[in-house]
Amino acid sequence: MLLTEIDHIAIAVHDLEAAIAYYAEAFGAEVAHREVVDSDGVEEALVKVADSYIQLTTATRDDSPIAKFLEKRGEGLHHVGYRVDDCAAALASIIAAGGRAIDEAPRPGSRGTTVAFVHPKGSFGTLIELVQE
Ligand code: CO
Repeated sequence: MLLTEIDHIAIAVHDLEAAIAYYAEAFGAEVAHREVVDSDGVEEALVKVADSYIQLTTATRDDSPIAKFLEKRGEGLHHVGYRVDDCAAALASIIAAGGRAIDEAPRPGSRGTTVAFVHPKGSFGTLIELVQE
């Protein structure tokens, strides 16, 4: 088994401050990590749940994939991050199983992680992010 944990569930939102306030009020949630990822055009706020995260994500510019998602589909579940020990090996295994890589090779993600995205087409409709800590 290559997956070691659900790393995060990413939820696309229009207003990051409003989403953080809602999670604080509804669940007593505190933001454990916050980061702007310039290369992806996103800002994330991570709420820790046991050893996983809820990742509230918004777009920082119009050409970001999150901006396009929000425009097309509205707010909601965007992707699931699966934690792995070896991102490159997991990506190769997915491709061998018929999955479609979005990232040809692992690349830097938030929190100093190494990540690779896999297309929802070929993965039963779910955008998958492989996350190596
Ligand atoms: Co993610």
